[in-house]
Amino acid sequence: MINKNLVFLLPILVLLLNQVHVNAVAQDYVPRNIDIERSPKNILVGSYVGGRSHLKPMLDVATILIERGHNVILLTAGKYEPSSEYPGLKQITLGPKMTVKQVKMDIYKDFDYRTMVPFMEFTTAAYNVTYEKFKNAAKENNIDLFICDVLANKPCIDVANNLNKPVVGFTLSMQMMDPKPYNSDPMYGCNISLENESIFERFRCALIQPLKIAYAYGPLMCKLNDIRDQMNIKSVSGTVPKVSLALIDTFFGFELPQSLAPNVQEIGPVLSEEYPPLTPEFSDFINGHKRVLYVAFGTNFYASIENNNKILQSLVEAINNKMVDGVVWALSQTSKDDFSPTLSFTDGTQFAPQFAVLNHTNTKLFFSHGGAESTHESLYTGTPMLVLPFGGDQMGNAQKLIKSAGIALSINKNSLDVKDILNKIDFLLKDEHIKKNSKRMKYLARINSNRKYRAADLIEYMLYSSGLNEYLDDDFLKEWIPAESRMGFIKANNLDIYGVLLIIIPALIGIAFKLIKYTTSNSLSNRKKSKQA
Ligand SMILES: *[C@@H]1O[C@H](CO)[C@@H](O)[C@H](O)[C@H]1NC(C)=O
Ligand SMILES: *[C@@H]1O[C@H](CO)[C@@H](O)[C@H](O)[C@H]1NC(C)=O
Ligand SMILES: *[C@@H]1O[C@H](CO)[C@@H](O)[C@H](O)[C@H]1NC(C)=O
Ligand SMILES: *[C@@H]1O[C@H](CO)[C@@H](O)[C@H](O)[C@H]1NC(C)=O
Repeated sequence: MINKNLVFLLPILVLLLNQVHVNAVAQDYVPRNIDIERSPKNILVGSYVGGRSHLKPMLDVATILIERGHNVILLTAGKYEPSSEYPGLKQITLGPKMTVKQVKMDIYKDFDYRTMVPFMEFTTAAYNVTYEKFKNAAKENNIDLFICDVLANKPCIDVANNLNKPVVGFTLSMQMMDPKPYNSDPMYGCNISLENESIFERFRCALIQPLKIAYAYGPLMCKLNDIRDQMNIKSVSGTVPKVSLALIDTFFGFELPQSLAPNVQEIGPVLSEEYPPLTPEFSDFINGHKRVLYVAFGTNFYASIENNNKILQSLVEAINNKMVDGVVWALSQTSKDDFSPTLSFTDGTQFAPQFAVLNHTNTKLFFSHGGAESTHESLYTGTPMLVLPFGGDQMGNAQKLIKSAGIALSINKNSLDVKDILNKIDFLLKDEHIKKNSKRMKYLARINSNRKYRAADLIEYMLYSSGLNEYLDDDFLKEWIPAESRMGFIKANNLDIYGVLLIIIPALIGIAFKLIKYTTSNSLSNRKKSKQA
């Protein structure tokens, strides 16, 4: 029956659809008009730590805002030299740039939250001075919106909140802005995922480690709150920094999947539109070799002399064993003094155009420290990685590259072994899964690299919805704030309902028992009665 009807109706439907189509074609279409009314606004980009890895992604988004007519001011330690890449960017300095050495962090040791304590002490002591600098810059330049690097940058976020201006938190760390109970990070002494860990490990990571971290940072937080009280600064408490919008320079695929609140957006990998090309010398070298291994450990980190010698030995053997036919080692912090004096080594003062090297089809493997920028560039160019993490986010990045992205293997700086390095290089160059995943990640990183424009769109939306002062009350951006933040933990998770259930169920069981007792004793007494009768 139904089939018959359908057959009957179909021609009519087709006829109708054709009709619609013909009508549509007959008319001229007019554009939808996606223009947005714009007026120039003043934006402050602030980072306490500064440095390329923190500034570059923020400035790549800021560039889009500058192109759209806004004024952007960068406030950071030192002078950011590559800022010449960003025409139209005004720069104010927070003072001299600090270095890893200056803060007395021992980067040869295992690097986790404890290593960061001296650094946090340093930034807390400078809070008052930094706060004033941010406040003065904001007032002098009539700042409408703040984009604050989240790491060790409380003055930036506090000034914004105290001036009642919207603040965008910018970070590479999902765990910092939207922690989930089933995720962690080697920085906190645990694996990135607790999904398959034992209940003991989960107990340690969910309870013991946070307590240890609170113990390590508690006195500093108290000190900071004292300073805030003295300076009459409203402190905004919470487990994550209080920002209107969090932009996270990462992407699912590299990052472990999780749910996100609407005001937390993953927008990475943020990459520049243009990169410096290969110098003629590099170009000749890489064109002349079919399987090139590229080695670079970033600008802030360096290996011990012993490790450098092991790495060098591995590279020489990788060439001798014909795994690769060329090696480019970009030395920045590493100088020839970092190798044992018995080796002669030419100093690498020359700048390595990293993206262009990775972008070349002959570059088959990247031996890296696993810094965020290097990681993003490697994923984007589909280059597998051998990761030697030194500290900070690098251990977590290494785990994500291995487990989530599936394009890497890692080695441990405390137990470097030449044979192990060679086996891993061999595996990474040959394995089919690594090849497949590199291709997959290359695609994903490319489509996601467009999201820096979405980041700029969201920032502009905040500028225009906050331009009117009446929006700057409790309702500001309420379209992005899920109810759970207002309901509190217990109500948002229905814990009160489960609590009520916990009371109801024993009560019901109690009543049921009483009823059974009553009926059985009744029937017993009935039987007795009937017996007696
Ligand atoms: C900032 O605080 C430190 C102590 O934490 C103090 O020594 C210094 O004088 C303060 N600076 C200003 C400008 O208030
Ligand atoms: C993390 O996972 C690895 C295996 O992937 C395991 O060997 C290790 O014990 C786990 N825990 C920590 C704290 O690293
Ligand atoms: C945990 O184990 C399950 C089942 O073996 C697997 O599908 C999942 O990917 C694992 N998760 C992680 C984070 O390794
Ligand atoms: C990357 O490679 C593509 C072709 O493979 C080329 O068109 C592009 O210019 C390269 N970019 C850089 C920065 O090397």
